[in-house]
Amino acid sequence: MHPVIEWQDGAVVMLDQRLLPGEKKFIIHRRHQEVARSIRDMVIRGAPAIGIAAAYGIALGVAELEHDPQRDRPEFLDARFDAIVAAITATRPTAVNLFWAAARMREVYERCRGDFPRLSRELLAAAEALDREDYESNRAIGRNGQVLLGERDTVLTHCNAGALATAGYGTALGVVRAAVEAGKRIRVIAGETRPYLQGARLTVWELQEDGIPVTLITDNMAGHVMQKRMAQAVIVGADRIAANGDTANKIGTYALAVLARFHNIPFYVAAPLSTIDPGTADGTGIPIEERDRSEVTSFRGQATARPATEVYNPAFDVTPAALITAIVTEEKVLRPPFAEAIASLRGLRRR
Ligand code: MRU
Repeated sequence: MHPVIEWQDGAVVMLDQRLLPGEKKFIIHRRHQEVARSIRDMVIRGAPAIGIAAAYGIALGVAELEHDPQRDRPEFLDARFDAIVAAITATRPTAVNLFWAAARMREVYERCRGDFPRLSRELLAAAEALDREDYESNRAIGRNGQVLLGERDTVLTHCNAGALATAGYGTALGVVRAAVEAGKRIRVIAGETRPYLQGARLTVWELQEDGIPVTLITDNMAGHVMQKRMAQAVIVGADRIAANGDTANKIGTYALAVLARFHNIPFYVAAPLSTIDPGTADGTGIPIEERDRSEVTSFRGQATARPATEVYNPAFDVTPAALITAIVTEEKVLRPPFAEAIASLRGLRRR
């Protein structure tokens, strides 16, 4: 699959995920404000992909200053860098990858700010490294997670935690892909994921592209599917995992975790270390994005409720750690108690 985001000739090129599955169109971004708008408007989405977009967006923002006569004035550059980072990070509050990527870019800035050509070069190199590392993490998550699946399991997933949400391959869908590559006959049941339909539009599309059998259900069918023992595991991605394992992911994930517990079906979270936020003690500290009312009162421009109807539209919910069977990371599979397991991660300690 073509990468969802790429640096090409001084521009950030993104696949416009809003148009899938109908149309495959790429948007060329030449200014960091355009990258910020594309993150906010869901041209690119999914926690790791948002982090990669943030890194490229910050590199682009600094590259824009190449011909600015003031670029070698430290106070000017500091103020501009802060403004670029602020524009990029003000887009979506829940996925911690966005802030993690911005912090990594700031480290490069601090190291190279005295030498503009070097700064510009190193920021781009850092964004490309972050992109590559995410892909490698996905592959390792897949390897670590696929052993949890049986030879003929059906996996229920929610939203899109696949190649489209990452540098490629995916987290939850990376586990599925790795199991298929290991010779297992895995099937997927994808919840459509109202209101934005990432499941129907994106997960189904990318699995079909890979020839992995997938069945689409509406979100309210999940209980029935579990009661009928039609899925042997639930695997989802994550937008932010708190230090105690509480996990924010797409709205509807919590309901699936409760259902899975009732039906004694394992509930797995697959996510890279960049999604773990050791600075947030538990789920109550995770900011939950609320999106526009029109996502709930209409469907692709067609009203499904009176436009003035009162609406609550949280984009994410928090699944308590107690409902999670295991968290699959690129380093290892974490088991409860998650606070200890997370604290033991070497990759996090190095950060
Ligand atoms: O609003 P979105 O589409 O950005 O939400 C995406 C999700 O909730 C994904 O499950 C999560 O980011 C993990 S992606 C590997």
